[in-house]
Amino acid sequence: MRSILKFALCAVLLCFLATMPIFAAGKTFVIGMSQCNLGEPWRVQMNADVKREADKHPEIKMVFKDAQNDVLTQRAQVEEFVSAKIDLLIISPKEAQPLAEPVAKAMAAGIPVIVLDRDINGENYTQFIGANNVKIGRALGAWLVKNYGGKHAKVVEIMGLQTSTPGQDRHSGFMDAIKGSDLDVIFSVDAQWLEPQARSEMESALSRFNNIDIVYGHNDPSAHGAYVAAQAVGREKSMVFVGIDSLPQEGIQYVKQGILNATFQYPTGGDVAIVQALKILAGQKVEKRIVLGSRMFTKANVDAGGVAIP
Ligand code: FRU
Repeated sequence: MRSILKFALCAVLLCFLATMPIFAAGKTFVIGMSQCNLGEPWRVQMNADVKREADKHPEIKMVFKDAQNDVLTQRAQVEEFVSAKIDLLIISPKEAQPLAEPVAKAMAAGIPVIVLDRDINGENYTQFIGANNVKIGRALGAWLVKNYGGKHAKVVEIMGLQTSTPGQDRHSGFMDAIKGSDLDVIFSVDAQWLEPQARSEMESALSRFNNIDIVYGHNDPSAHGAYVAAQAVGREKSMVFVGIDSLPQEGIQYVKQGILNATFQYPTGGDVAIVQALKILAGQKVEKRIVLGSRMFTKANVDAGGVAIP
C-alpha cells in the first residue's frame, strides 16, 4: 500500500514538473539589449518588437542601451553589460569589425550573445538572427531589370554604411543581379543609412547628371531623402525610386503614396530574438544562424500584403 502511495506521489510530482515553466520559480533573467542607434524608425520598431515579446515573460527583465550611432559608445555599453553580469546579451551592432571584440569578451565571460540584423566579423557569438541581405539586393536588382531593363536606364545607388554587413550585402546582391543587363550605375555613394545624408548626396547627383532614371536606396529613408531632393528641383516624376525596410508607417506608406515604386521588407527580428533567448537561457541548443524571410511591396500588391521573395 505504501509503495503504491509513493508511486502515485511520484507520478503526480512528475506531471507537475512537466507542466512547470522551464525556469525555477522566482528566478529572473536579465537580458541586455545593445542597440546601435534609436534615431531611425526601424530601430525604434526593433526595440518595440523585443519589448512586446519580452513583456509576455515575467521571468525576463530587459535593460536597453542606445549607442546613438557611435561605435565607441556601443563598445563601452557592451562592456558595462559584461561587468553587470547580465544573463544574455542581444546586440544590433553598428559595424562588423569594432564590435567583434566586446562580443568576444561577453562570450569569454560566459554570457551568451545573440547578434541581431547587422553581423560582426568572425563567429564568436551564440546565434545570429537576420534576413539575407544579398538575397534582398538580388531580388531588388532582378525586379528592376525585369521592369526597366532594355531602356539603358541610368541608376543612382544610395548605399547604406559600407562598414556594416547589410550595406555590403545589399550592394553585392544588387550588382550580381544587374550583371549583363543594360542598367548602368552612374553614381554610387555611401550615405550611412541616413536620410539627410542621402538627400544631400542626391543633390550632388542631380547637379552632375541630367539623366537619372532609377534611384536605389539601401533603406527607405535613403530612397525618401533622394526623392525629396529630386522633388525640390521638379525631377522626381521622371524617376523610379526603390528602397528596403517596408515599415508599415514608412516604406509601405511611401508606396501607397506613389513616392516609392517598390520597397523590400527587412524584418527587425526583435520578437524572434526573445524566443531564441528563452531557449538559450533554458540550456537548449540553438541554430547558429536564423535567416528571416522577406516580402516585396509595389503599388499593385501592397493592399494584398505584398509577395514573398523566393
Ligand atoms: C536602421 C537601418 C535600417 C536598415 C538596417 C540595416 O539603422 O539603417 O534602415 O535596414 O539599419 O542594418
